[in-house]
Amino acid sequence: MKSSVSAAPLSTNKHLLRWVEKMADLTKPAAIHWVNGSQAENDALCAQMVSAGTLIKLNEQRWPGCYYARSDASDVARLESRTFICSLSKDSAGPTNNWVNPFEMRRKLKGLFTGCMRGRTMYVLPFSMGPIDSPMSQIGVELTDSPYVVVNMRIMARIGLPVFQLIDKDVKRVVPCMHSVGAPLAPGKTDVPWPCNNEKYIVHFPETREIWSYGSGYGGNALLGKKCFALRIASNIARDEGWMAEHMLIVGVENPEGEKTYVAAAFPSACGKTNFAMMIPPNGFEGWKVWTVGDDIAWVKPDKKGELRAINPESGFFGVAPGTSAKTNPNAIATLSKNTIFTNVALTPGGGVWWEGMTEEPPTECLDWQGNRWTPEIGRQTGRKAAHPNARFTAAASQCPSIDPNWEDPDGVPISAFIFGGRRAATIPLVYQAFNWSAGVYMGATMGSETTAAAAGAIGKVRRDPMAMLPFCGYHMGDYFRHWLTMQRSLTVTPRIFHVNWFRKDADGEFIWPGYSQNMRVLKWIVERAHSRAAAKETPIGWMPRYEDIEWRGLDFPREKFDELQNFDAGAWRSEVIGHEELFIDLHDRLPPEMVYERELLICRI
Ligand code: GTP
Ligand code: SPV
Ligand code: MN
Repeated sequence: MKSSVSAAPLSTNKHLLRWVEKMADLTKPAAIHWVNGSQAENDALCAQMVSAGTLIKLNEQRWPGCYYARSDASDVARLESRTFICSLSKDSAGPTNNWVNPFEMRRKLKGLFTGCMRGRTMYVLPFSMGPIDSPMSQIGVELTDSPYVVVNMRIMARIGLPVFQLIDKDVKRVVPCMHSVGAPLAPGKTDVPWPCNNEKYIVHFPETREIWSYGSGYGGNALLGKKCFALRIASNIARDEGWMAEHMLIVGVENPEGEKTYVAAAFPSACGKTNFAMMIPPNGFEGWKVWTVGDDIAWVKPDKKGELRAINPESGFFGVAPGTSAKTNPNAIATLSKNTIFTNVALTPGGGVWWEGMTEEPPTECLDWQGNRWTPEIGRQTGRKAAHPNARFTAAASQCPSIDPNWEDPDGVPISAFIFGGRRAATIPLVYQAFNWSAGVYMGATMGSETTAAAAGAIGKVRRDPMAMLPFCGYHMGDYFRHWLTMQRSLTVTPRIFHVNWFRKDADGEFIWPGYSQNMRVLKWIVERAHSRAAAKETPIGWMPRYEDIEWRGLDFPREKFDELQNFDAGAWRSEVIGHEELFIDLHDRLPPEMVYERELLICRI
């Protein structure tokens, strides 16, 4: 065993020690490694994965501290069909979640996990979601047989000794997270670069606050602090304790006078959260600055004064690589320039990485995400992409040039507005504001979006994705809407609620709105509205900016195009409302009456 490996427990907490022992007994690992989180330990794990072929070290001059991983071709995204909420009653999980009786599921898992770590090391990985010293943080321990998970979690969460110290004080409840790639290694057999199992289970027990994940090593399926804990389990804790766990980015908008306004925005997977969170204001916005607090998850809680405050429970970004460039997101490019793990992008001959949209000119030659030779010509002929559409980078938030000075404030940042946004080619305007909180909850609840490569399955199909939480809400969606409505009662200042759509297309199928940094123009209107300083006109669906309410300095955008973007088509909205009804029918037994009432009001107005 290497000197950096701690076989001796790094905790004195009896519950933890007993659980680790019990799980080792079940899974039969060859060794146990207590993760201290140090740089030396990380370097040793990376070196070990380089020899095993799991990681490739990138060119140190160009990509200092960076590694490259290729997953198994079958293990490239979240698997919603294999994700389960195993509450005691099926009704608590609701119709939007897969449910299996918890007793049956436990039996199944016991079978799957028996001996599943044979020949591998079991890592005891303690992590804190949120700053270690924050009262809003939550802690967990992931037992995993994947060193790739350990080095990714070291970027995505606070891990190691400080968390063991917290666990030893026994002041916070620990969420146990079991993870195995489900590929025991027989003695003398050589490992594959990306072990995984065709049978996959991502399981949550909300009542006992437990997570069990089997068969996948990728992203949200395996980095259990992220979607499994910080959204599915945390949404249950939040409902019980009166706060909110949301699939939201958090940004601070600073105006030339130095006034800072924080907003949180929920867009579905691969719909622009990372881009929006790292926005650089365009020409015409001299003196404005956008600060990044988080790009994927927000935990939002009313403070003593009744104002909402939010933390980003993560400490890194697991961002979509394709489409990320010095033009579209220079802050992301700077963030991922060092100490980054790239997964399923393309590898260039010089030991660098590339993905579609990174540069205008593709490399003359590279190895694609499956390790096959790729040239622009091969790409043209076969339609094969060099990078997988859900290829991602794992990079530390602290490396982001726009990271907010308050991003680790233990009390979070104050939230003045919520934004919902989907990917919609038609019907939905660029931006509008809900009349009030309850209309805003309806707006979020009925949000639709085209599916993306972030989850396995069809791409480009419009589906209802309430608050961008369809894959992440760990309980009945009707109760979740009710929780949103109830939250208002604990607030003295109610954030304003907005809807945006960067993806509306014209008759030729082209995006009408330039997007990216130009979204600042919409964000400015939102911030001004939140402070009751901007004008708007009333429409059947909410308040909308007129052309003259938007800052156009630095962009030549004709009034007619803006009208096309903002166009309200009553006919299209009537079909849209039928889409709302389809979701509501599924949820009917737990749908808050306010939602039906808001729908009636909307129908009357259109
Ligand atoms: P997850 O990490 O999966 O939760 O997603 P995310 O919401 O952080 O996604 P991300 O910001 O990485 O969005 C990626 C996709 O959105 C890419 O295809 C981008 O090109 C596209 N995108 C982001 N912002 C804009 C925009 O303003 N306009 C257009 N047209 N596309 C955008
Ligand atoms: C998402 O799919 O919304 C992600 C990526 O943020 S993953 O962590 O893999 O779920
Ligand atoms: Mn996400």
